[in-house]
Amino acid sequence: MLVGSVAALREVRREDLSVFHGVLGTDPAFHAKVMLEPWVPTTVAVAQARYDAGLAKEPDPRAPVQFTVQSATDNAGRCLGWGTLWGIDLHQRIAHIGVGLIPAARGRGLGLDAVRLLCRYAFEVRDLHRVGLETFATNEPMRRTALAAGFTQEGVLRESGYAMGERIDEVLYGLLRSDWKAAQAG
Ligand SMILES: CC(C)(COP(=O)(O)OP(=O)(O)OC[C@H]1O[C@@H](n2cnc3c(N)ncnc32)[C@H](O)[C@@H]1OP(=O)(O)O)[C@@H](O)C(=O)NCCC(=O)NCCS
Repeated sequence: MLVGSVAALREVRREDLSVFHGVLGTDPAFHAKVMLEPWVPTTVAVAQARYDAGLAKEPDPRAPVQFTVQSATDNAGRCLGWGTLWGIDLHQRIAHIGVGLIPAARGRGLGLDAVRLLCRYAFEVRDLHRVGLETFATNEPMRRTALAAGFTQEGVLRESGYAMGERIDEVLYGLLRSDWKAAQAG
């Protein structure tokens, strides 16, 4: 487990899948704001079947790494959201991160801490060089979280995103290993 000041990242447990489904699986409008692929109706049983199949697979160092976000002080380890390191490129040594919390857990510093922990995982555990983070221009909480975590805004892809009938600009952020190291030292 990676433990921060208020959040911790741990392995995804089978029982977490119903929490993820409650946030992502039932609301197409929310899904459109945070996921790249389109919403399709699905059940927790489908996610459980995928989870079970994944347990038998050989670990792949390029595969997305999924975490569950919990409070740093919760011994019961209740699932408050998810964090992902994805798009891992072992030649360029780059990857991207994504994070999402259940509504009740938002606005209390957990998202920022989870982003910091994902960066720590990327740089310290996986020895990567750069982490990217992308979000819609309309996602003020995520944009502020990226800046608070030390990311630099690097560009805007005009109308690159699509959500429920609207074209939305996508904002690109990046954090280099050297930025991260300097922030640790300071
Ligand atoms: C985006 C998200 C992970 C941020 O986590 P959080 O725990 O809510 O945010 P924190 O409490 O850690 O605050 C981090 C920053 O966001 C800002 N913020 C949080 N909620 C906000 C809101 N509703 N409106 C504007 N800013 C907000 C905080 O003020 C802080 O910025 P600051 O340091 O400049 O003051 C969380 O809100 C979430 O899960 N949202 C839904 C899923 C999502 O959009 N994921 C990202 C997809 S790209």
